Amino acid sequence: MGRVHVSQHPLIQHKLALLRSIETGPKKFRELVREISILLAYEATADLALTPIDVMTPLTNATGMALSDKIGLIPILRAGLGMVEGIWEMMPAAEVWHIGLYRDHRTLQPVAYYNKLPVNPTVQVCLILDPMLATGGSAVAAADMLKQWGARRIKYLGIIAAPEGVEFLQAHHPDIDIHLGTIDDHLTPEPSAPGEPPRGYIVPGLGDAGDRQFGTG
Ligand code: PRP
Ligand code: URA
Repeated sequence: MGRVHVSQHPLIQHKLALLRSIETGPKKFRELVREISILLAYEATADLALTPIDVMTPLTNATGMALSDKIGLIPILRAGLGMVEGIWEMMPAAEVWHIGLYRDHRTLQPVAYYNKLPVNPTVQVCLILDPMLATGGSAVAAADMLKQWGARRIKYLGIIAAPEGVEFLQAHHPDIDIHLGTIDDHLTPEPSAPGEPPRGYIVPGLGDAGDRQFGTG
Protein backbone atom coordinates (compact mmCIF):
# COMPACT_ATOMS: atom_id res chain seq x y z
CA MET A 1 0.00 0.00 0.00
CA GLY A 2 1.38 3.44 -0.91
CA ARG A 3 1.96 5.88 1.91
CA VAL A 4 0.01 9.08 2.49
CA HIS A 5 2.59 11.60 3.62
CA VAL A 6 1.21 14.90 4.92
CA SER A 7 4.04 17.36 5.38
CA GLN A 8 4.61 18.73 8.85
CA HIS A 9 7.27 21.12 7.58
CA PRO A 10 6.84 24.58 9.17
CA LEU A 11 7.79 26.36 5.93
CA ILE A 12 5.06 24.52 4.04
CA GLN A 13 2.49 25.27 6.75
CA HIS A 14 3.47 28.96 6.79
CA LYS A 15 3.31 29.26 3.00
CA LEU A 16 0.00 27.39 2.87
CA ALA A 17 -1.71 30.06 4.94
CA LEU A 18 -0.44 32.73 2.55
CA LEU A 19 -1.55 30.65 -0.44
CA ARG A 20 -5.08 30.23 0.90
CA SER A 21 -5.59 33.92 1.66
CA ILE A 22 -8.08 35.74 -0.55
CA GLU A 23 -5.66 38.70 -0.33
CA THR A 24 -2.96 36.82 -2.28
CA GLY A 25 -2.84 37.88 -5.95
CA PRO A 26 -1.73 35.75 -8.92
CA LYS A 27 1.98 36.74 -8.85
CA LYS A 28 2.44 35.91 -5.18
CA PHE A 29 0.22 32.84 -5.59
CA ARG A 30 2.50 31.48 -8.34
CA GLU A 31 5.60 32.14 -6.21
CA LEU A 32 4.05 30.23 -3.31
CA VAL A 33 2.99 27.29 -5.48
CA ARG A 34 6.54 27.12 -6.80
CA GLU A 35 8.12 27.27 -3.32
CA ILE A 36 5.74 24.77 -1.70
CA SER A 37 6.29 22.41 -4.63
CA ILE A 38 10.06 22.44 -4.14
CA LEU A 39 9.62 21.60 -0.46
CA LEU A 40 7.12 18.83 -1.23
CA ALA A 41 9.44 17.39 -3.87
CA TYR A 42 12.33 17.42 -1.40
CA GLU A 43 10.29 15.20 0.92
CA ALA A 44 8.81 13.04 -1.85
CA THR A 45 12.18 12.21 -3.39
CA ALA A 46 13.92 11.18 -0.16
CA ASP A 47 13.83 7.49 -1.17
CA LEU A 48 15.11 7.79 -4.75
CA ALA A 49 17.77 5.25 -5.67
CA LEU A 50 21.41 6.30 -6.04
CA THR A 51 24.35 4.84 -7.95
CA PRO A 52 27.95 5.41 -6.82
CA ILE A 53 30.06 7.31 -9.37
CA ASP A 54 33.72 8.36 -9.55
CA VAL A 55 34.32 12.10 -9.34
CA MET A 56 37.62 13.90 -9.77
CA THR A 57 37.91 16.81 -7.33
CA PRO A 58 40.71 19.39 -7.70
CA LEU A 59 42.59 17.29 -5.08
CA THR A 60 41.87 13.63 -5.76
CA ASN A 61 39.38 10.97 -6.78
CA ALA A 62 36.19 10.73 -4.77
CA THR A 63 33.11 8.57 -4.81
CA GLY A 64 29.97 10.55 -5.42
CA MET A 65 26.35 9.62 -6.01
CA ALA A 66 24.10 10.04 -9.01
CA LEU A 67 20.37 9.46 -9.26
CA SER A 68 19.87 5.97 -10.72
CA ASP A 69 16.45 6.51 -12.23
CA LYS A 70 15.20 8.85 -14.91
CA ILE A 71 12.48 11.03 -13.40
CA GLY A 72 9.39 12.28 -15.19
CA LEU A 73 7.49 15.35 -14.00
CA ILE A 74 3.84 15.02 -15.03
CA PRO A 75 1.90 18.25 -14.44
CA ILE A 76 -1.86 18.02 -14.86
CA LEU A 77 -2.93 21.04 -16.92
CA ARG A 78 -3.59 23.71 -16.06
CA ALA A 79 -2.98 24.11 -12.36
CA GLY A 80 -0.12 21.58 -12.19
CA LEU A 81 1.97 23.78 -14.49
CA GLY A 82 2.94 26.08 -11.62
CA MET A 83 4.52 23.16 -9.75
CA VAL A 84 6.95 22.23 -12.53
CA GLU A 85 9.53 25.00 -12.76
CA GLY A 86 10.85 24.95 -9.19
CA ILE A 87 11.03 21.16 -9.00
CA TRP A 88 12.71 21.01 -12.41
CA GLU A 89 15.45 23.32 -11.17
CA MET A 90 16.18 20.77 -8.43
CA MET A 91 16.36 17.90 -10.95
CA PRO A 92 17.19 19.40 -14.35
CA ALA A 93 17.66 15.99 -15.97
CA ALA A 94 13.98 15.20 -15.46
CA GLU A 95 11.65 14.93 -18.43
CA VAL A 96 8.37 16.86 -18.37
CA TRP A 97 5.29 15.21 -19.85
CA HIS A 98 2.03 17.18 -19.78
CA ILE A 99 -1.39 15.65 -19.26
CA GLY A 100 -4.45 17.81 -19.99
CA LEU A 101 -7.50 17.13 -17.83
CA TYR A 102 -10.35 19.35 -16.69
CA ARG A 103 -13.30 18.61 -14.46
CA ASP A 104 -16.70 18.74 -16.07
CA HIS A 105 -18.45 21.31 -13.85
CA ARG A 106 -21.74 19.38 -13.87
CA THR A 107 -20.56 15.80 -13.31
CA LEU A 108 -17.13 16.53 -11.73
CA GLN A 109 -15.76 13.78 -13.97
CA PRO A 110 -12.31 14.40 -15.49
CA VAL A 111 -12.21 15.07 -19.22
CA ALA A 112 -8.92 14.32 -20.97
CA TYR A 113 -7.88 16.80 -23.67
CA TYR A 114 -4.10 16.46 -23.99
CA ASN A 115 -1.78 13.46 -23.91
CA LYS A 116 1.37 13.27 -26.02
CA LEU A 117 3.08 10.47 -24.11
CA PRO A 118 5.23 8.48 -26.53
CA VAL A 119 4.48 4.80 -27.15
CA ASN A 120 6.96 3.47 -24.61
CA PRO A 121 7.84 4.89 -21.19
CA THR A 122 11.04 6.95 -21.13
CA VAL A 123 11.26 7.43 -17.34
CA GLN A 124 11.41 5.12 -14.33
CA VAL A 125 9.82 7.36 -11.68
CA CYS A 126 6.80 9.59 -12.43
CA LEU A 127 5.85 12.51 -10.20
CA ILE A 128 2.26 13.60 -10.87
CA LEU A 129 1.96 17.31 -10.05
CA ASP A 130 -1.39 18.92 -9.27
CA PRO A 131 -2.04 21.38 -6.43
CA MET A 132 -5.62 20.20 -5.75
CA LEU A 133 -6.83 16.67 -4.98
CA ALA A 134 -10.59 17.16 -4.65
CA THR A 135 -12.80 14.20 -5.66
CA GLY A 136 -9.64 12.44 -6.86
CA GLY A 137 -11.07 11.86 -10.34
CA SER A 138 -8.31 13.79 -12.13
CA ALA A 139 -5.53 12.11 -10.14
CA VAL A 140 -6.92 8.63 -10.83
CA ALA A 141 -7.33 9.43 -14.53
CA ALA A 142 -3.73 10.71 -14.74
CA ALA A 143 -2.40 7.63 -12.95
CA ASP A 144 -4.46 5.39 -15.28
CA MET A 145 -2.88 7.13 -18.30
CA LEU A 146 0.63 6.72 -16.88
CA LYS A 147 0.10 3.04 -16.08
CA GLN A 148 -1.29 2.42 -19.58
CA TRP A 149 1.90 4.06 -20.82
CA GLY A 150 3.88 1.50 -18.81
CA ALA A 151 4.97 3.64 -15.83
CA ARG A 152 5.84 1.35 -12.94
CA ARG A 153 6.67 3.77 -10.12
CA ILE A 154 4.39 6.75 -9.58
CA LYS A 155 4.21 9.33 -6.81
CA TYR A 156 1.51 11.98 -6.47
CA LEU A 157 2.40 15.47 -5.22
CA GLY A 158 -0.46 17.76 -4.22
CA ILE A 159 -0.66 20.90 -2.11
CA ILE A 160 -4.20 20.63 -0.66
CA ALA A 161 -6.35 17.49 -0.60
CA ALA A 162 -9.86 16.61 0.50
CA PRO A 163 -10.27 13.37 2.48
CA GLU A 164 -12.58 12.09 -0.29
CA GLY A 165 -9.84 12.51 -2.92
CA VAL A 166 -7.17 10.78 -0.86
CA GLU A 167 -9.50 7.83 -0.28
CA PHE A 168 -10.45 7.62 -3.98
CA LEU A 169 -6.84 7.74 -5.18
CA GLN A 170 -5.73 5.14 -2.64
CA ALA A 171 -8.63 2.84 -3.52
CA HIS A 172 -7.83 2.93 -7.26
CA HIS A 173 -4.03 3.09 -7.05
CA PRO A 174 -2.93 1.60 -3.72
CA ASP A 175 0.68 1.40 -4.93
CA ILE A 176 1.09 5.18 -5.33
CA ASP A 177 2.74 7.25 -2.60
CA ILE A 178 0.74 10.44 -1.99
CA HIS A 179 2.63 13.53 -0.77
CA LEU A 180 0.51 16.44 0.42
CA GLY A 181 0.92 19.83 2.01
CA THR A 182 -2.26 19.28 4.01
CA ILE A 183 -5.58 17.45 4.09
CA ASP A 184 -8.56 19.77 4.48
CA ASP A 185 -12.01 19.13 5.89
CA HIS A 186 -14.49 18.29 3.13
CA LEU A 187 -15.83 19.09 -0.35
CA THR A 188 -18.63 21.58 -0.96
CA PRO A 189 -22.05 19.96 -1.52
CA GLU A 190 -24.53 20.92 -4.23
CA PRO A 191 -25.40 24.61 -3.62
CA SER A 192 -28.79 25.04 -2.00
CA ALA A 193 -28.99 28.83 -2.31
CA PRO A 194 -27.76 31.45 -4.78
CA GLY A 195 -24.24 32.72 -4.03
CA GLU A 196 -23.03 29.46 -2.51
CA PRO A 197 -19.87 27.97 -4.07
CA PRO A 198 -20.30 25.26 -6.69
CA ARG A 199 -20.13 21.56 -5.76
CA GLY A 200 -16.81 19.78 -5.38
CA TYR A 201 -14.57 22.55 -4.02
CA ILE A 202 -12.19 21.83 -1.14
CA VAL A 203 -13.13 23.48 2.19
CA PRO A 204 -11.48 25.58 3.48
CA GLY A 205 -9.21 25.15 0.41
CA LEU A 206 -8.04 28.09 -1.62
CA GLY A 207 -10.68 28.38 -4.36
CA ASP A 208 -9.75 27.51 -7.95
CA ALA A 209 -6.01 26.89 -8.18
CA GLY A 210 -5.90 27.33 -11.96
CA ASP A 211 -7.80 30.60 -11.93
CA ARG A 212 -5.74 31.98 -9.05
CA GLN A 213 -2.43 31.21 -10.80
CA PHE A 214 -3.43 32.47 -14.20
CA GLY A 215 -5.62 35.41 -13.15
CA THR A 216 -8.66 33.98 -14.91
CA GLY A 217 -11.12 33.81 -12.00
C1 PRP B 1 -8.52 21.24 -10.80
C2 PRP B 1 -7.25 20.75 -10.16
C3 PRP B 1 -7.28 19.28 -10.44
C4 PRP B 1 -8.76 18.98 -10.34
C5 PRP B 1 -9.02 18.34 -9.01
O1 PRP B 1 -8.40 21.35 -12.15
O2 PRP B 1 -6.11 21.37 -10.66
O3 PRP B 1 -6.77 18.91 -11.70
O4 PRP B 1 -9.45 20.23 -10.43
O5 PRP B 1 -10.35 17.95 -8.91
P1 PRP B 1 -10.76 16.43 -8.78
O6 PRP B 1 -9.87 15.82 -7.75
O7 PRP B 1 -12.19 16.51 -8.34
O8 PRP B 1 -10.61 15.78 -10.12
P2 PRP B 1 -9.58 21.95 -13.07
O9 PRP B 1 -10.46 20.86 -13.56
O10 PRP B 1 -10.24 23.08 -12.35
O11 PRP B 1 -8.81 22.47 -14.34
P3 PRP B 1 -7.74 23.65 -14.49
O12 PRP B 1 -6.49 23.22 -13.75
O13 PRP B 1 -7.52 23.70 -15.95
O14 PRP B 1 -8.32 24.91 -13.92
N1 URA C 1 -9.98 22.34 -8.09
C1 URA C 1 -9.58 23.51 -7.54
O1 URA C 1 -8.84 24.28 -8.16
N2 URA C 1 -10.00 23.80 -6.30
C2 URA C 1 -10.79 22.99 -5.58
O2 URA C 1 -11.14 23.31 -4.43
C3 URA C 1 -11.21 21.78 -6.16
C4 URA C 1 -10.77 21.48 -7.42
